[in-house]
Amino acid sequence: MSVKIAPSILNADFGHLADAVQRAERGGADWIHVDVMDGAFVPNITLGPMVVQAIRQATKLPLDVHLMIEEPRRYIKPFRDAGADGMTIHLEADRHAHRTLSEIRTLGAKAGLAVNPGTPIALAKDLVEEMDLLLVMSVDPGFGGQPFIDAALRKLREARELTQGRCEIEVDGGVKLAHAPKVRDAGATVVVAGSFVYLEGDGPEANIAAVPRALLA
Ligand code: DX5
Ligand code: ZN
Repeated sequence: MSVKIAPSILNADFGHLADAVQRAERGGADWIHVDVMDGAFVPNITLGPMVVQAIRQATKLPLDVHLMIEEPRRYIKPFRDAGADGMTIHLEADRHAHRTLSEIRTLGAKAGLAVNPGTPIALAKDLVEEMDLLLVMSVDPGFGGQPFIDAALRKLREARELTQGRCEIEVDGGVKLAHAPKVRDAGATVVVAGSFVYLEGDGPEANIAAVPRALLA
């Protein structure tokens, strides 16, 4: 089963963001993962629609926008207008996730739902029909470079059981090359990696290109 690779630009060189995105594209990335943080839902602040627009101009790859913000419904249209192809909201940040997911689809984007390490997968049960992607966080959201939480492998299996192939299953946080076959075997169809891609080894092109090989091994 082929797994999509979605580099997170959170640890990229923001002084040369267009170049960082294009290097990921040259390395064979399938999507670009964009982490939006508001300093409220998570203890960090990153970027808004203006930066998504700049990334949109640098690549034709799908932009997978991960909204770690309170009440995300307020911002789905500005991010869609800026060029987001997919928008993922957190179940913990939205009391009306059903409405927000369907509004994301109405805007013509792919709708994703993310669950934190402490949130049971079962809480997403009645939202499966509304989502195109279920994101299993393998770190507590807010920063790149954190260690992978092994319990995420069990949650990926639960996500696969729950969704029965009806949507993508994405894993995000602390994923290194050695994790790639494990998360794939547990059910992930999309793998996000930030520090592994931009801060380690021989740079994004070589690091991304190493993933398919690791999955074949
Ligand atoms: C964390 C973000 C992740 C992060 C991934 O809150 O959602 O996308 O940037 O980076 P690494 O792979 O370094 O954990
Ligand atoms: Zn993310």
